[in-house]
Amino acid sequence: MQFETIKLSTLDTIKSNPLDLSQTVLEGLSKTPKSLPSWILFDDHGGELFNKITTLENYPPSVCEFEIIKNNRQVIADLPFENGLQVIELGAGDGEKAGILLEHLLQTGQSAHYVPIDITEGAIRALIKGLESKFEGSALTASGLIGDFFQGLDSIVGKSKQRNLVLFLGATLGNMDYTSMQNFLSRLRGKLHLGDYVVIGFDLMKHPKLLYNAYNDSHGYFEEFNLYMLDRINTALGANFKKENFVQQAQYNKDTHSIESYLFSICDQSVFISALEKEFHFKAWETLQTERSYKYAESEIDSLAEHSGFETIESLYDSKQEYVMPIWRAKNI
Ligand SMILES: C[S@@+](CC[C@H](N)C(=O)[O-])C[C@H]1O[C@@H](n2cnc3c(N)ncnc32)[C@H](O)[C@@H]1O
Repeated sequence: MQFETIKLSTLDTIKSNPLDLSQTVLEGLSKTPKSLPSWILFDDHGGELFNKITTLENYPPSVCEFEIIKNNRQVIADLPFENGLQVIELGAGDGEKAGILLEHLLQTGQSAHYVPIDITEGAIRALIKGLESKFEGSALTASGLIGDFFQGLDSIVGKSKQRNLVLFLGATLGNMDYTSMQNFLSRLRGKLHLGDYVVIGFDLMKHPKLLYNAYNDSHGYFEEFNLYMLDRINTALGANFKKENFVQQAQYNKDTHSIESYLFSICDQSVFISALEKEFHFKAWETLQTERSYKYAESEIDSLAEHSGFETIESLYDSKQEYVMPIWRAKNI
């Protein structure tokens, strides 16, 4: 089939699933200070709210990546893909940026198989439907995988002789702390063949005021997105969070080198979560961290590549040099 969507073993029923919602919420709300991982934000509606963020004119992971891909699509198309090309996109979302590259590959006479992987079912279904209406009958084939990054990689890598090009865009890797990122990249390298390529979006450290403005937008898109975490927990786990009792703000933390997004409880309150049969207390102005986005020095990125089994072929920058997308090649490990 030219275009297909595959739902990998249902996320909620895998015992050791790293994306188990109830266990994650229990752990995150039992900690001091409270914090929850940002993947909780991504279901169909959360994905739509995130797409609004990607339209913000000073949000670097969107603005800069679009610019870099548009200006460098030929550089990527020129990489040696002897036996054809399989483009794997981790956390593809709406897949718009990969779409620019795929269209260019087709226009320059190359064929490709595209494999977007995402936990958001609606995003993958919409993406494959859009590709089908645009590229039916072309040299592009696509398999959209609904599931976790590594569930997706396990189900495809090694099954094809095509050269793999892995895209990991939207600064999604930057949601992980340095150790998790290192482990993630080493694990990714272990799934790939010698000579496969990886292109990752890294937001570089910049003026803290620019960062503040990027993550505290005047439209309130970030606030809407982060508050949605409470809706998601209310619906999925039978909780009684009152969204109006929380406000959101992001700030740069100089010690962790990351922008951290917080929901502040505006009053003393308790929240009951039925699925956990447990009540959680929030003091007035206590915080719940919902997102973290690391900002990098270039030396850190080089060191990440080196220690996880990749060599840098080229580094692609936006015109302001505030963002970098290195092209890495899998080396001998
Ligand atoms: C920050 S968004 C980036 C979306 C898109 N790549 C872009 O550049 O706009 C992160 C994406 O990763 C997906 N995601 C988060 N955790 C995931 C996981 N463990 N496995 C698969 N997809 C995941 C989310 O659903 C979301 O679509």
